[in-house]
Amino acid sequence: MPQPWWRNAVFYQVYVRSFADSDGDGIGDLPGITSHLEHIRDLGADAIWLTPFYPSPQKDHGYDVSDYCDVNPEYGNLEDFDRLLARAHELRLKVLVDIVPNHTSDQHPWFQAAITAPDNPFRERYHFANPKTAEAPPNNWTSSFGGPAWSREPSGKQWYLHLFAPEQPDLNWWNPAVPKEFERILHFWLDRGADGFRIDVAAALFKRRDLADRPFLISPVTGMPHFDSDFAIIDQPPLHDVYRRWRQIANGYEPARVLVGEIFDPRHHAQYIVPDQLHMAFALIHQRWNAALWKRSIDGSRRALQGPGAGPTWTLANHDVVRPVTRLGGGSVGRARARAALLLVLGLPGQVFLYQGEELGLEEADMPDPARQDPIFFRTAGRMKGRDGCRVPLPWRRGEPNAGFSTAPPWLPMPAGWDRLAVDAQAAAANSTLAHFRRALAARKELSGRLPDRITWLPAPEGVLAYERGPLIVACNFLSRAARLRLGGRLELASAPLAAEKEGILHLPANSAAWLLRVARPQMPVAGAS
Ligand code: GLC
Repeated sequence: MPQPWWRNAVFYQVYVRSFADSDGDGIGDLPGITSHLEHIRDLGADAIWLTPFYPSPQKDHGYDVSDYCDVNPEYGNLEDFDRLLARAHELRLKVLVDIVPNHTSDQHPWFQAAITAPDNPFRERYHFANPKTAEAPPNNWTSSFGGPAWSREPSGKQWYLHLFAPEQPDLNWWNPAVPKEFERILHFWLDRGADGFRIDVAAALFKRRDLADRPFLISPVTGMPHFDSDFAIIDQPPLHDVYRRWRQIANGYEPARVLVGEIFDPRHHAQYIVPDQLHMAFALIHQRWNAALWKRSIDGSRRALQGPGAGPTWTLANHDVVRPVTRLGGGSVGRARARAALLLVLGLPGQVFLYQGEELGLEEADMPDPARQDPIFFRTAGRMKGRDGCRVPLPWRRGEPNAGFSTAPPWLPMPAGWDRLAVDAQAAAANSTLAHFRRALAARKELSGRLPDRITWLPAPEGVLAYERGPLIVACNFLSRAARLRLGGRLELASAPLAAEKEGILHLPANSAAWLLRVARPQMPVAGAS
C-alpha cells in the first residue's frame, strides 16, 4: 500500500507575522508568503503549517481568535488565502492551518455576548464561576503565562477561566454548542482546500468538571507553571470522542486531511495517535546537548508510539521555544550543534517539523525590553523575557533595508547584522546552514523509499550516538572534541566540512554529525574519542 503523503514528510512552520511582508507595514502577510513559497519548495519541504492568521486583537499574536472563518486585515483576506493555497499546491506543498479550539479572544462575539448579562446563554460556552472568597479566584489553577488562571469579568460578578492570557477565555467543551461550532470551522477551511490542521493545546479542551484545586508543576525548562496531565486538569475522556469525530471529517475529504496535535507530554501521545483520532503529535526535543539525554528523549517518543501507522513527529523548534542555535550553546558552537542535530533527527523514521529560520541558523534575538510584545513578558512583569526572540522576522536579502523582509521597520526589531544570515547570502555559499539543510532534505527524500520504519542503536563511544536504519547509518558526536568510529559505510553527508571517512573509519569533528550509506556489515567500533 502506498503511504499517505504525510508519513515521514517534512513540514515547515511559517510564523505568518514574521515570514515576509508584501505591503510595507512591517508585518508579514499572506501575499508575502505566497511570493516566497519557492524558498520552502527549494528547501525540500513537503508541507507548510501556517500559524493563526484570523481576525484577532493580537494579544497573543493570533492565538486569540475573534473570528475563526476570516483573515485578519493585517494579513490579507480570504482571496489571499485561496491564492496562497493554490500556489502552494502548484509547488506540491500541502498547507495546514492552525486551529485554536481551547479558547477564543475576549473580543469574540460569544464572549462579548456572555458578559452582557448574568443570564446570557453564551456564558455556558465559557467557564464562569463564583470566587472562593470575595478576593480569591474560584480555584488555584494558574495561567501558563503567569498569575492566576482566572480573571474577574468586567461586571465583577463572577470570574472566568483562562489557561493563557485574560484576553483568551477558555471555552467550555462540555457544552455541545462548542464542538458543533468547531466542526463547522473545520469544514470551512477544508472546503477551501486546506490539507489539515495543527491543533493548538490539543489535550486541554475539556477541563475537569469539578474545577477543583490541583497541584501544579513548575517546568524545569521554562520555569513556568504547567498543568501536568497526571493531575487530571486536562486530558478528559470526552476529548477522544471529539477527535474521533474530527478524524471522520478529515477522512471525508479526498485525499484525507491530517490532524497534528500540540500535546506536550509524549507519555500521552499514544492515547491520541491512533487510527481513529489524530495523525501526529509533536515530539519536541528540548534537551541540552548531551548524548544520553537526546537518546532518552528519542527513545521515549519512539516507545510512546508503536502502534500501526503511528510514529513520532520530531521537532527541534517552534515559535514558543528558544531557537536551537542559542539553546545548544550559541554562536558558532550552537550553530554547529544545530546542524548536527538536524542530521540526527532527519534520519529517524517519522515526520519532521522545521520552524522558519532554522534553515538559516538564526539565533534567538536579544532585544530591548521596550520592544518586547509577548504577553508572557507582561504577565510576569518582565521576570520571563518571553518568546519574541524566536519570532524576529526572516532576513531575505543581504544589504537591503530590514534585510528585505519589509520596506518598513519590522514589528520586532532585527539585531544588527541580521542580514548576514539572509537567504540570498546563504543560497550562494556552499557551506552555509541553508545549503546544509537543502542537502540534508534532498538526501532524505532520495533515500525515502529505501528506509524501514525502525532504527537500531549501534555501539558508540560515550558522548556519541549512532544508529542504523536499513542502509543508512547516522552518527552524531556530542563531544567538544573529535571522535573516530568504525561503522562501515560510505560518507554521504556531514554537518561539518572536516568530517571524513577512510577505510571504514569515520572521523567526526566536535559537535558534528554524518550520514553514511552502508556498503558492508558494521564491525565493532574502534577508538573512543580522540
Ligand atoms: C500554544 C501556542 C502558543 C500560544 C498558546 C496559547 O502553545 O503555540 O504560541 O501562546 O498555545 O494559544
